[in-house]
Amino acid sequence: MKEEQLLNIPGDYTDGIDRVDGRQKVTGAAKYSAEFNLPGMTYAVFATSNITKGSIKSIDTKAAEHAPGVLKVVTHLNAPKLPGYETGKDPSKPATGGGPLKLFVDNSIKFNGQPIAMVVADSFERATFAASLIKAEYTKEAHNTDTAKSLDKAATPKGPRFSDYKRGNPDDWKTAPVNLEAEYILPTEVHNPMELSAIVANWTAADKVEVYDKTQGVKSTQNAIAQAFKLPPENVHVTTKFVGGAFGNALRTWPHEIAAVMAAQLVKRPVKLVLTREQQFNSVGYRPYTWQKVSIGATADGKLTGIIHEARAQTSTFEEFTEGTVNMTRFMYACPSVGTIYKVIPVDVNTPTWMRGPGEATGSFALESAIDELAAKLNMDPIELRVINHADTDPENGKPFSSKNVKEAYQMGADKIGWKNRKNKPGSVQEGGWLVGYGMGSGVFGAGRGRATVRATMQSNSTLLIQTSVTDIGVGTGTAMTQIASEVFDNYPIKKIVFELGDSSLPPSPTQGGSMITSTVGGAVHDACTALKQKFQQVIGNGGTDKPDYAKVLKEKNLPQLDVEITSSGSSEMRNYSAYSHSVHFVQVKVHPKTGVVKVSKVVSVADSGHIVSPKTARSQIVGGAIGGIGMALMEEGVIDHRYGRYVNADLAGYHVPVHADIPQIDTLFVNKPDFKVNPMGAKGMGEIAIIGMAAAVANAIYNATGKRLRELPITPDKVM
Ligand code: MOS
Repeated sequence: MKEEQLLNIPGDYTDGIDRVDGRQKVTGAAKYSAEFNLPGMTYAVFATSNITKGSIKSIDTKAAEHAPGVLKVVTHLNAPKLPGYETGKDPSKPATGGGPLKLFVDNSIKFNGQPIAMVVADSFERATFAASLIKAEYTKEAHNTDTAKSLDKAATPKGPRFSDYKRGNPDDWKTAPVNLEAEYILPTEVHNPMELSAIVANWTAADKVEVYDKTQGVKSTQNAIAQAFKLPPENVHVTTKFVGGAFGNALRTWPHEIAAVMAAQLVKRPVKLVLTREQQFNSVGYRPYTWQKVSIGATADGKLTGIIHEARAQTSTFEEFTEGTVNMTRFMYACPSVGTIYKVIPVDVNTPTWMRGPGEATGSFALESAIDELAAKLNMDPIELRVINHADTDPENGKPFSSKNVKEAYQMGADKIGWKNRKNKPGSVQEGGWLVGYGMGSGVFGAGRGRATVRATMQSNSTLLIQTSVTDIGVGTGTAMTQIASEVFDNYPIKKIVFELGDSSLPPSPTQGGSMITSTVGGAVHDACTALKQKFQQVIGNGGTDKPDYAKVLKEKNLPQLDVEITSSGSSEMRNYSAYSHSVHFVQVKVHPKTGVVKVSKVVSVADSGHIVSPKTARSQIVGGAIGGIGMALMEEGVIDHRYGRYVNADLAGYHVPVHADIPQIDTLFVNKPDFKVNPMGAKGMGEIAIIGMAAAVANAIYNATGKRLRELPITPDKVM
């Protein structure tokens, strides 16, 4: 396939640069956190609880202590009290109440698989064997892990961020000429990136520690460790050069990271701790099980009159995790009367966390399915219904959108997928024994710009070095930043630009997440490169050319290098606007009527996310999100056997994600219209919108193919039959 066909970007970009770290990644030169090896390395392995709730009555570690190669066995009986652990707040804490699990502080068991002991040995195998020798006796208490059966236990979160919302008279949906009320269910989903969570910890002095850690934010990990061990932050050095996917599971600092640092302090040697795939299921968060109800009404010609969107979501008993599941319903469509309600259900599991498109990915499944159901009831094309209810300004706060080109996105996607072939009457198209259907769903996510600091240095060998502490969780940040630096620096050659990242000693950047980094760090790269150019003009004085030979200037002026360090953030003008990125996903499915098998046969995803800075990595983002959305729609589900409170599919054999054979050609289209209000590149984020709306698009396509409305994910063949 020709590159133009793959890229398919209208506007001023016809091509993009290759990934600057692509060669390192495909040759194995890229070093992930678990691959750092230090002299004298030791290995920490957890023994975990096999009860779900209660306390440890006794724990026998003798056999483990005497096993070959074992240096230390840590339990709640002998663990040192970390000076800042009990009271320390996690700086990247996504929860609004309670506190994160702290390991080895007491004998209580809060969920199945909770670490009860940590063995440190001179090899991973010896540590694993010794951990298997640990025997615990428990006092068991009755547990509850079944969120579906606990919907009546839902309570309003204590945190202030998610109070109920109401405008107009939301109950107007009830008296509307056309209306419906439907419930939607999303199971627990686990991030399951390729790379397991891993940390290497090494104390280089009594009060100094270095870690190589899988994290989405080296600065927040630095702060979390500094707080737990009461160290000055600069005494904690965090390195994260490559991340093998995360999707949110490394947005906060988890107990295993603190435990590994503690272990290294105890054995006075470097410690490596890599969670097993099974442990990932209850150690580093997940997307919470969420029940939703949408009540919606419209006039006979399709004008929305009222919507109520309610969600009840799983959280842990010790920490309150909340996300913006219902929030998009307040502003997605022009509707005079809207109510949203969000509640949490504490069950005996570890705490959930953000997972790609957090909140909105779940919420859009319900809202965008309900809009499709309403269109069917109105006998109207679902795009037409959306156009009729297009919000020209933000209905939540009355502000203008900084930019919004959704109508154009509908058109682009409809043209590309061949929407005209869709029949509004479900079940009317057959092809070779398969039912064919088309569906669409839209996504939205906030597009802000935060604060970041970037250092730009022109070196004597004419290398332009750009430095900031941001991590790249695989999305191609280094590539996009190099592209921005090149453009600002008058198309400075890509090969002469080095973007250094993933190190807490570099100038501060925020944690990579929330679709904020291209805007935030990109904005700071833009500003730093602009400032460096100006500094050169000053050095050169009168008569400086637009495109000086920088190495020559340095030499003439007898300068070893020229650098700037710039901190910048979004403009205050943004307060007057609502800024969102939008996506529209189109799907064609083929459904086998006898077996219920669903094949996604075509995908067209359109992103309206401002100017596309780096076409190749942008396309990768959208493709990856669409695949995630297909997994969400058809496969992903963490299944707990509630009798034992334990996952029964805690591996990649039992937890299904799409493989190549499940994925068709995915076309990505970009509206590619700059939004200069958000940042000087005119770019808005796209990591989250890539998945948001996709699951609804698949479910809506299945309805169109079969006439069957499926409201519980994943849509497995048994449900389709
Ligand atoms: Mo993401 S859920 O912003 O890593």
